[in-house]
Amino acid sequence: MKNNFWEKLNRPIYALAPMAGITDSAFRQICKKFGANVVYSEMASSDALVFNPDKTLKMLKFNKVEQPYIVQLFGNNPKHFADATKLIQAKIKPNGIDINFGCPVKKIVKQGAGVALMKNLKLSQEIIKSVINNTNLPVSIKCRASVGKINVLKFLDNLNGLDIKAVMIHGRSFKQGFTGLIDFKIIKKARNYFGGIILANGGINSYNDAIETLIKTKADGLGIARGALGSPWIFKALRTGQSIKRSHRAIFKIALQHSELAYKLKGAVGIVEMRKHLSWYIRGLPGARKLREQLINVKNLKDIREILKGVNL
Ligand SMILES: Cc1cc2nc3c(=O)[nH]c(=O)nc-3n(C[C@H](O)[C@H](O)[C@H](O)COP(=O)(O)O)c2cc1C
Repeated sequence: MKNNFWEKLNRPIYALAPMAGITDSAFRQICKKFGANVVYSEMASSDALVFNPDKTLKMLKFNKVEQPYIVQLFGNNPKHFADATKLIQAKIKPNGIDINFGCPVKKIVKQGAGVALMKNLKLSQEIIKSVINNTNLPVSIKCRASVGKINVLKFLDNLNGLDIKAVMIHGRSFKQGFTGLIDFKIIKKARNYFGGIILANGGINSYNDAIETLIKTKADGLGIARGALGSPWIFKALRTGQSIKRSHRAIFKIALQHSELAYKLKGAVGIVEMRKHLSWYIRGLPGARKLREQLINVKNLKDIREILKGVNL
């Protein structure tokens, strides 16, 4: 019997969607603090977990405050998915495992992984079975509204009978990439078709976006990706109906806490990786351009503290 944490989450579910290079442990912890119900890892290569696992295992480590925490895998080899699943369950011990059927990045699609799998119904089935059969953790998937002639309804139809607990649907087609309108109708149809949890994803950057998406799709919850960049408090705002806007002092306080956590977990590399987050935190503030020029060169916590302290708005 799989321990299905999904059923126990408060509704609507607000999930931090997976983002490669972004949803690391520090960022997940900050989002969790602001009320994300569930957080996803960066996508992890099932091939790498088979052949050279150390770096990927290190990337996937988490702190228990992040729970429930989901590890997302990508790849296109069912055997590698099976072995990677066993390894993740034994070494990382997350609360769930997710499979990526939505990534449109050329390098991934060329390998027949990510969104390319949505077109390969037989292989998609095999991959999901090999994950489900090798874990007692709940298994979820993330896919797109459509790729070519295959839409999410046809895709889910092919998976009928498999024990999939949740589906996050990015409501854009492969062709749309990361911009353009969300196909609410198809997510609503998927909601009526699929018995498990449905999370609608795409373009949720405010309370109004969230309400519109929930009403139009009837989803159990939402996946938030870019809407959390530089505003991890979006999760609290969605829950309370508050505006996303914050004073610059409040923003700097969180940016600093995030930086301290990044440094604690990754050392100097964490600071280099923080540069992009810092640029997102200051987006829209008066003088942001000049401030960004300083923040993109920070080398340590002291640099960050001094730059933020010196800001007079
Ligand atoms: C920088 C970046 C990295 C992403 N990495 C992943 C990933 O590792 N796995 C995945 O399933 N989706 C990934 N996505 C897609 C997001 O999870 C999400 O589906 C997409 O950004 C649409 O949601 P949004 O409009 O809220 O940003 C990524 C998106 C961005 C912008």
